[in-house]
Amino acid sequence: MHAENIRIQIIVDNEAQDGLQAEHGFSLWLEIDGKKILFDTGQLDAFLYNAKQLHIDLGETDTLVLSHGHYDHTGGLADVLACNHSVDVYCHAAAFLPRYSIRDGIAKPIKMTTRAMASINTLSEERMHWVTKSINIANSTAITGEIPRKVAFETSDGSFYFDQDGKRADAIVDDMALWVNSSQGLIICIGCCHAGIINTINHIKKTSGVSKIHALIGGLHLTGVDESRLTQTIALLKQENIDKIITCHCTGDTAHQRLREQLKAEKGFAGMAFQITP
Ligand SMILES: [Fe+2]
Ligand SMILES: [Fe+2]
Repeated sequence: MHAENIRIQIIVDNEAQDGLQAEHGFSLWLEIDGKKILFDTGQLDAFLYNAKQLHIDLGETDTLVLSHGHYDHTGGLADVLACNHSVDVYCHAAAFLPRYSIRDGIAKPIKMTTRAMASINTLSEERMHWVTKSINIANSTAITGEIPRKVAFETSDGSFYFDQDGKRADAIVDDMALWVNSSQGLIICIGCCHAGIINTINHIKKTSGVSKIHALIGGLHLTGVDESRLTQTIALLKQENIDKIITCHCTGDTAHQRLREQLKAEKGFAGMAFQITP
């Protein structure tokens, strides 16, 4: 079974086309055989502004998926829930935990905002879907649930913690990806990909039973990774023969450049869209 009519558009990214706002964050709009799915909600103002400019009616969202609980993916959650009383929300419960990024000894809170957290209480129980395992959300479309961390070189970058003192490491178990099975292969959408792209791909291929990947879109979180990880990641991605790689958000300039040179990756931006029709 394939999804037939697929349209995907970036609402928020660190880059934007003329007339749209760029911000450090990510949000994707998907229309899959008539079902409207929002994958992440950006960080600040760009989400609502760009959605309006792109004529995306957030009130029509059927399903909202949060890839994980960081502030730059959940900023518009309260806005969606305020204008839409029938949306189903899918996320991992760990998305609501307090968390910090610690770099050079300085702890920065990176949890979702208090407003976003509070808005979830307006949802009725049957519309809130707590996800730990792979689950279907539309025709030939699923989210991964927790992604097993099996690839040795895909370690956390060591800067994420549950506490300001850096004593309790945060593995970001809430990190999930979304996939659509199209006639041309899997379309894989990722937020920050904290689980690692190879772990993510391996898990999706296993749970979907599909081996061909048509497209990969989202943030790869390869900023500042060492040469060994970058080389191994690119080598394994090469083996997948992915038709279309769109790097966004937290991929990092060096990683993007290497992916562009070696795998013809394109840089994503708010407003970028692609579709598959029968
Ligand atoms: Fe992010
Ligand atoms: Fe993140």
